[in-house]
Amino acid sequence: MSKIRLGILGGGADSLIGIVHRVASQMFDSFELVGGVFNPNFKASKKFAKKIDLPLNRIYKDVDELINKEDELPEDKRMQVVSVLTPNFLHFTMAKKLLENGYNVICEKPLTTTYQEAIQLGRLQKENKSVFAVAYTYTGYPMIRQMKQMIADNIIGKIQKVDLQYYQGWINPFIHDYDKRKKVWRLNPEKSGISCCIGDIGTHAFQMLEYVSGLKVNSLLSDLNYLYDENKMDVDGTILVRLNNGSKGVIRTSQIATGEENNLTVAIYGMQGSLKWEQENPNYLYHLNQDRPYQTLKKGNVYNSDIAEDSVKIPAGHPEGIFDAMGNIYKGVAKAINNENAFEGEYPEINDGIRGMLFIEKVINSHKQGNKWVKL
Ligand SMILES: NC(=O)c1ccc[n+]([C@@H]2O[C@H](COP(=O)([O-])OP(=O)(O)OC[C@H]3O[C@@H](n4cnc5c(N)ncnc54)[C@H](O)[C@@H]3O)[C@@H](O)[C@H]2O)c1
Repeated sequence: MSKIRLGILGGGADSLIGIVHRVASQMFDSFELVGGVFNPNFKASKKFAKKIDLPLNRIYKDVDELINKEDELPEDKRMQVVSVLTPNFLHFTMAKKLLENGYNVICEKPLTTTYQEAIQLGRLQKENKSVFAVAYTYTGYPMIRQMKQMIADNIIGKIQKVDLQYYQGWINPFIHDYDKRKKVWRLNPEKSGISCCIGDIGTHAFQMLEYVSGLKVNSLLSDLNYLYDENKMDVDGTILVRLNNGSKGVIRTSQIATGEENNLTVAIYGMQGSLKWEQENPNYLYHLNQDRPYQTLKKGNVYNSDIAEDSVKIPAGHPEGIFDAMGNIYKGVAKAINNENAFEGEYPEINDGIRGMLFIEKVINSHKQGNKWVKL
């Protein structure tokens, strides 16, 4: 079977997430990167393409030129899927144009900058049945998939408490200096949308909660922190949640937790046991019990579920990380494009992205109303 022809928007030499997608897309030999727009500056885009050995004839000025020129190619040469890796404010227009022109899409999170835009994309995707993935990277980790399966298999019993923590400290050096703060696109509402911390990492925690638990958040109450009156973007927030099984929990997010790096911790407490996973140590899943010492499950072992083991590439004891997690998402997308059988939840779909946007808007509303409970 020939490789799936992939284009990329954004993710150039100056980007954070670009290399993760490029490496991930090559991991299972399913995709071939054929072109794209890596940078709004055409020269810089071409320079980068040269560096990664891509022919320049499919490096375009912008998404419009990409669509027009790709359209002129025979179908068996045209891009089949395009990854959107730009800052948030460009996701909607780019993904909309791609969907309208029949492309499959892999889009970074948050899906858009408003819930309404996300709904529009959802409608379009439903109409033309494109494969549409939202890059909630952490769902690609084998031990997260194991956690999801163990919860579905009722190993820990009824869930009675959830605690999702996503703590970073990277904004600390910028937030206290007005001029430095202005240079960070995540702190600029025109580029980032209505939220910084909740949009950037709160959405990961929210999606992870619903992904592993199989439950839905019914309502929430948020308390955000902006640190300075003239700063319009949240940099920290605590969110109480009530779930559709009647239980309660908390999502704690921060980008001013000084010294923290990428500390996403997922803890799900059931009546018969609990499961805990830490992103900075992702090959381990901790199973806690009342009456015996806790167990550590590791990736690459026969006791894991089929989806967890299908997400592992090298034998037990060889660490796998975020590149591999994203690789597993690309693997799920490849299966969907090729109409192959896939595990449920093998890649996050457009509905995850739409719920993510609903979550962001409700969190901001709850805070602005004076920390009121709001329904999702
Ligand atoms: N899934 C994850 O774990 C994860 C991690 C980091 C970032 N992200 C998301 O990825 C997106 C990008 O984040 P980042 O940190 O890589 O940003 P970044 O600022 O590091 O990189 C953005 C890239 O987009 C390019 N770009 C900007 N405007 C463009 C345009 N008009 N056309 C083409 N390219 C353009 C820039 O030149 C740059 O290469 C954001 O939506 C962010 O939320 C997701």
